Amino acid sequence: MKGIILAGGSATRLYPLSKAISKQIMPVYDKPMVYYPLSSLMLANIREVLVISTPRDLPVFKELLGTGEELGMTFDYVVQEKPNGLAQAFVLGEQFVGSDKVALVLGDNLFYGQGFSEMLKRAASIRNGACIFGYAVKDPRAYGVVQLASDGMALSLEEKPQQPKSEYAVPGLYFYDNTVVQRAKNLRPSARGEYEITDLNKEYLKEGTLKVEVFGRGFAWLDTGNCDSLLEASNFVATIQKRQGFYVSCIEEIAWRNGWISNEQLKALGVKQEKTEYGRYLLDLVK
Ligand code: G1P
Repeated sequence: MKGIILAGGSATRLYPLSKAISKQIMPVYDKPMVYYPLSSLMLANIREVLVISTPRDLPVFKELLGTGEELGMTFDYVVQEKPNGLAQAFVLGEQFVGSDKVALVLGDNLFYGQGFSEMLKRAASIRNGACIFGYAVKDPRAYGVVQLASDGMALSLEEKPQQPKSEYAVPGLYFYDNTVVQRAKNLRPSARGEYEITDLNKEYLKEGTLKVEVFGRGFAWLDTGNCDSLLEASNFVATIQKRQGFYVSCIEEIAWRNGWISNEQLKALGVKQEKTEYGRYLLDLVK
């Protein structure tokens, strides 16, 4: 399975912070935001990743993440000229996806909680159809909203409904079979002029092949859309890391635990960042 990180948009809700730099590069406590969604793909055992961003910001992602070789991975890069919607990722990524299945994660979505890896691996094991997630929120009106059937399949799906049929928002993490590329090509833009991920998911819903995994109580799906939620996300990560001593979304650690890099390679990555707690954490892992 392949993975796509969509890190486009102009993030006007974060102005002036995001006036000159990409939101998905900004710090969430001790690491760039994009590390968090990247770690979600890695936990799903995805080694080949395509990063999509704006013409202005893509070079910065290249500089940050490189070829992926250091992590035993492969990173590719494609420009999205205009923020035309999430579903466009599959059209832009057609060549990259090839004949594989594919997961999409939004570059500003942060997930953390027990059992996450197992859920990801279940989602990645779909054969025909798609798998999305549900997360109960107090006010789901700003999101895609899914209504669940008792067998774990989706019953209805709506984008930003005024009267939501359930409390389950759909986070920005999606798993698809290979037909997603053709389906994305056939989409028409919505009223707000975007190729909507919800319209794509509705295609699977119609066929009865849209599975939903629900994140339970205590699981964290954090938003980073404005400066308050950005600060809250930073505080959340700092709290967990300082209390437990386990790092949240440490991509080098995940690559090493997945067996993609050796002790020696991890050590080399630690030495490069030795002046920070982050680097020393990597060195302690090797010990
Ligand atoms: C997008 C999707 C929405 C989803 C959300 C998750 O919304 O359209 O279905 O729930 O991401 O972050 P947008 O960020 O474009 O408002």
